[in-house]
Amino acid sequence: MTASGISRGTEALPTLAALHREGQPIVMITAYDHPGGRIAEEGGADVVLVGDSAANTVLGYATTREISVDELLVLTRAVRRAVRSIPIVGDLPFGSYEASDELAVRTATRFVREAGCDAVKLEGAGEMLPRVRAIIAAGIPVVGHVGLLPQSVTSADGYRARGRDVEQALGIIADAESLAVAGCAAIVVEAVPSEIGVLITERVDVPVIGIGAGASVDGQVLVYHDLLGYGEARPAKFVRRYLAAHELFVDAVRRWAADVRSGSFPSSEEGYGVASDVLDEVKARL
Ligand code: KIV
Repeated sequence: MTASGISRGTEALPTLAALHREGQPIVMITAYDHPGGRIAEEGGADVVLVGDSAANTVLGYATTREISVDELLVLTRAVRRAVRSIPIVGDLPFGSYEASDELAVRTATRFVREAGCDAVKLEGAGEMLPRVRAIIAAGIPVVGHVGLLPQSVTSADGYRARGRDVEQALGIIADAESLAVAGCAAIVVEAVPSEIGVLITERVDVPVIGIGAGASVDGQVLVYHDLLGYGEARPAKFVRRYLAAHELFVDAVRRWAADVRSGSFPSSEEGYGVASDVLDEVKARL
């Protein structure tokens, strides 16, 4: 129970609840395809989010508002086929849940039935609280998302941090509290001052998973492509890059292209052989 009494902790995602109880940091990473899912799991993540950031990272859209349910379901199914031992969270795309509780439950149910998700995530509180409650009432765990809400961003300068003035900070804290009370299994907090991350974490007793919310939250999430430097996008301030995958991949393709042009690819070992009598007969019968 927190000082404020905001306590609706749920065991809806038992892996996360156990880590949270034990005070162990929760590691969440996004993935959008089969190899990404394998890498996330083998890399030791506790939970995989098939984020609507796929809109930018793999589909090349300018904003996350453009990805459709069907597009995200294809990617989510690929991740599910790869990830065997940890939960996966499906992200409800823009336009797929806001209009009514019925729509929200229908879309969330598709992510569970058609893509094997263990939970769904949606952005915002306030008017979205009835959607959160309706999905949970339908038996599907929900992960909330407060702070910077990418689905509300329509231009590049909209990605700045949130909660740096009093009213906005209080609003984000209240949003997180209301999502915890509504029964969310965890809450993603994006791009807020570290001190606001601390206040939220102190005031709710479900796991708070930060992305640009400082170190004193219950867990961290990063976008796979940001962490690996896979893609050309300029990373946000809160991203730490562990690889320059784009440069490594470009270099590999360049070296292969040079080998093709110089005639050194393929070598005889990189092709198939045929018995000489078979070849002789093929030639004779041409
Ligand atoms: O879609 C996504 O990748 C997300 C993360 C930023 C948390 O929502």
